Amino acid sequence: MILITGANGRPGSAVVREFARQGAPVRALVRDPKKADGLRALPGVDVRTGDMLWPETLESALAGVDRVLMISSAGPQMLETQCTFVDAAVRAGVGHIVKFSGKDSIDGFDPERFRSSRSHEQIQRYLVASGTPWTVLRPSQFMQVYFEEVPDIVRSGELRLPLGDTTLAPIDVEDIAKVAYAVLTTPGHEGRTYTMTGPEALTMSDVADRISDAIGKPVRYRDVTPEEKRRDWIEAGYPPARASAFTQLFQERTRLGRSTVDLTAHERFGIEPTTFAEFARRNADTFRGASDYVVTPA
Ligand SMILES: NC(=O)c1ccc[n+]([C@@H]2O[C@H](COP(=O)([O-])OP(=O)(O)OC[C@H]3O[C@@H](n4cnc5c(N)ncnc54)[C@H](OP(=O)(O)O)[C@@H]3O)[C@@H](O)[C@H]2O)c1
Repeated sequence: MILITGANGRPGSAVVREFARQGAPVRALVRDPKKADGLRALPGVDVRTGDMLWPETLESALAGVDRVLMISSAGPQMLETQCTFVDAAVRAGVGHIVKFSGKDSIDGFDPERFRSSRSHEQIQRYLVASGTPWTVLRPSQFMQVYFEEVPDIVRSGELRLPLGDTTLAPIDVEDIAKVAYAVLTTPGHEGRTYTMTGPEALTMSDVADRISDAIGKPVRYRDVTPEEKRRDWIEAGYPPARASAFTQLFQERTRLGRSTVDLTAHERFGIEPTTFAEFARRNADTFRGASDYVVTPA
């Protein structure tokens, strides 16, 4: 049996949907069963409840599991959550842990300088030291993070970010889900790390143009200061610590400035990379503000 954790979240739900699309049975771990109706409605999906921070809640989810895709939120608890989960999975006899990590597409980015990326590095070291066969998936920024800018796009026709003419190479979560499905269902991936980005390095003006074309309305990129964006994030309800962490990350991206495209995982697994234009067209109603982004549609 294969278990996907973080299954109510953006990447986790996409991987579970990919299993359902392929007709392959899968088990999904969620923390809040009330949010899992969409997952339960998918064919072949066995939803179990548990908290990765509390091993005693994981017995049912881990029973009989050979492989796990380990995902949890990128918050301050990620290190503790995933190290605790690795221990529980090893004790339960899981034979292969695939860690969902990340890698910024920006050239020269040092993961040790930022809390979330540093936590991923620490978790990877912990996982390797556990002695369990492992694989690491390292996608770049998700295209889906631009949904967080929808309120500004709808209100003012602006994409407000503190990035100057920096390029990023965001990837569609659906592409990552296809890579994850291939890694979880075929042999030969132990000890390997798969980095991946989207197919283009884009300035934020490029991103705004693609959203504009998809929704049929003008969308302009507005280069705001890090302090302005930090205020926007706090007004939008982000906890101040999260807003500060993002501000630091965006300042570093702007300082370095350029991204590199890496399609080696797409090529290896025969996955057609989704362009931002295709992604924006597929999600035009969300970018128009006409439909909420549903993480786990039924
Ligand atoms: N955002 C990006 O652009 C990006 C790019 C590359 C990599 N990543 C990495 O991708 C991962 C997921 O990203 P995200 O934060 O954006 O995903 P997300 O949508 O917040 O999904 C994370 C899921 O993990 C679940 N979870 C958290 N703590 C848990 C616990 N103790 N027990 C059980 N489940 C738990 C959450 O459950 P609830 O639904 O109950 O909260 C949520 O459904 C992170 O490691 C992040 O660093 C992100």
